[in-house]
Amino acid sequence: MHFSRLGSTLLLASVVAGQLKKDCGAGIGNCPDDKPCCSQYGQCGIGAYCLGGCDPMFSHSLQSCMPAPQCQSTTYQFTDSKSSPILSNTKYLGDPSTADWVSDGQPLYANGVVYLTMAPNTVGTVLASTRYVWYGKISATMRTSRGQGVVSAFIMMSDVKDEIDYEWVGVDLKTSQTNYYWNGIPNYTHSGNITLDSGDTYSEWHTYTIDWTPDSITWLVDGQVGRVQKRGDTYNATTGNFEFPQTPSRVQLSLWPGGLASNGKGTIDWAGGPISWTGGDIATYGYYFAQVKEVTVECYNAPNAQGSGKKSYVYKDLKQVNTSVVLSDDQTYLASLVATGEDPDKQLPNAQSSATTIIKTNAAGQVSTVVSTVAPTGSSVGTVPGLDGAGFGSNDLNKGNDPDGSGSGGDASGTGSSGPESTGWSQSDAKTGDSTRLALVSGNIIALMLVGAAMLAL
Ligand SMILES: *[C@@H]1O[C@H](CO)[C@@H](O)[C@H](O)[C@H]1NC(C)=O
Ligand SMILES: *[C@@H]1O[C@H](CO)[C@@H](O)[C@H](O)[C@H]1NC(C)=O
Ligand SMILES: *[C@@H]1O[C@H](CO)[C@@H](O)[C@H](O)[C@H]1NC(C)=O
Ligand SMILES: *[C@@H]1O[C@H](CO)[C@@H](O)[C@H](O)[C@H]1NC(C)=O
Repeated sequence: MHFSRLGSTLLLASVVAGQLKKDCGAGIGNCPDDKPCCSQYGQCGIGAYCLGGCDPMFSHSLQSCMPAPQCQSTTYQFTDSKSSPILSNTKYLGDPSTADWVSDGQPLYANGVVYLTMAPNTVGTVLASTRYVWYGKISATMRTSRGQGVVSAFIMMSDVKDEIDYEWVGVDLKTSQTNYYWNGIPNYTHSGNITLDSGDTYSEWHTYTIDWTPDSITWLVDGQVGRVQKRGDTYNATTGNFEFPQTPSRVQLSLWPGGLASNGKGTIDWAGGPISWTGGDIATYGYYFAQVKEVTVECYNAPNAQGSGKKSYVYKDLKQVNTSVVLSDDQTYLASLVATGEDPDKQLPNAQSSATTIIKTNAAGQVSTVVSTVAPTGSSVGTVPGLDGAGFGSNDLNKGNDPDGSGSGGDASGTGSSGPESTGWSQSDAKTGDSTRLALVSGNIIALMLVGAAMLAL
């Protein structure tokens, strides 16, 4: 039983930022004015902290988080880096015309699909859609990962932590675990399983659908209804709220180590046990991986929505319900990674500045996890939340073995030449890593690394 488990993305956050204390969130409080944005992971910062996942509830003010780009009905394919552009979260500034997805970790194009990879001692990969969905039918055609402690996920997640989930633990390749959260409140009675009649989630492509309307959530696997949750059955008479996901949400696809030793026992048990960094697909391919072939989004309209803007969703109050959201024409992008929703046009002090990345080192002193990228001002204010270290401390994934062996297409063939934007940040950053300078800043687990100005794409 994993009744103390938080939503998958919240959990991922605690993995990513395991050594950092939370500085905003329920029971902690709001962010201060010099780092006003509360990230999805519960840390305060500027820049990318104010984009997707920025929590209006615990940020400095209602203006701190940037407006969220509105839904657009589309089919995303991942045949190559240009079909549905993925931009690293160190580069994305909030304009959805520049990228369909924002990555954290190491996505990899190969065989006409995108691989979400998890190399040894990393916390895996997340893709988040740059646009939000405020009700819609979202389908992902994918293959999960496998192995003890390895968790694959396809979820919808709102900035106030409404969440609709599919999750797969790598020891049970027959079961799709479904769940939903309202305002991030965990309740184990909200989970439910859908079992495949035949085959498994790793070896075959299946299409997993979340059909989210104002009145119900329907989970479908290969077009067959597996579960329905009605809004009407979520009413809380004490508060008068429907405890039902009802706020604009991003699509998130991820692979993460539920079986990491530093996770809670409940999580490790749920994930099937401790993860192995030497066995299974790590031994064969050098990393665990899930594969995504296609994501389709069909937008529905929110009934009775306030406002008539066509560009963004904006929170106008902190009730965290559907009436808190307004359709607006407000801009969704920042001028730089030192800007915030309160000052979206703020520019970097000078073009020579370099960003600083806070990284974690393991007991042997090797770089493992990137915790945050901070402002190029000498201050310690974070600009990119929850960055993980996939790609650090491991072999260059693009030179690794090609899962499935067909070796066709994409950057995974080892050419690695289509530009750093196309596969997240690993290629360029692996290079800057050569000239890394390490400096201890707080104890022996957090280090500072200076990264070239290229990181901010000046
Ligand atoms: C969990 O959800 C169920 C069904 O929605 C509800 O009856 C129960 O009171 C909830 N538990 C808590 C602690 O909120
Ligand atoms: C779903 O299946 C998993 C095993 O894969 C099991 O641990 C869990 O208890 C099941 N959940 C429900 C709600 O039946
Ligand atoms: C209703 O909301 C109250 C206050 O948040 C909570 O304590 C209670 O568990 C909720 N009841 C249900 C049935 O979810
Ligand atoms: C919010 O949800 C309620 C049902 O809980 C519905 O009656 C109302 O129309 C919705 N309002 C908006 C703005 O979506």
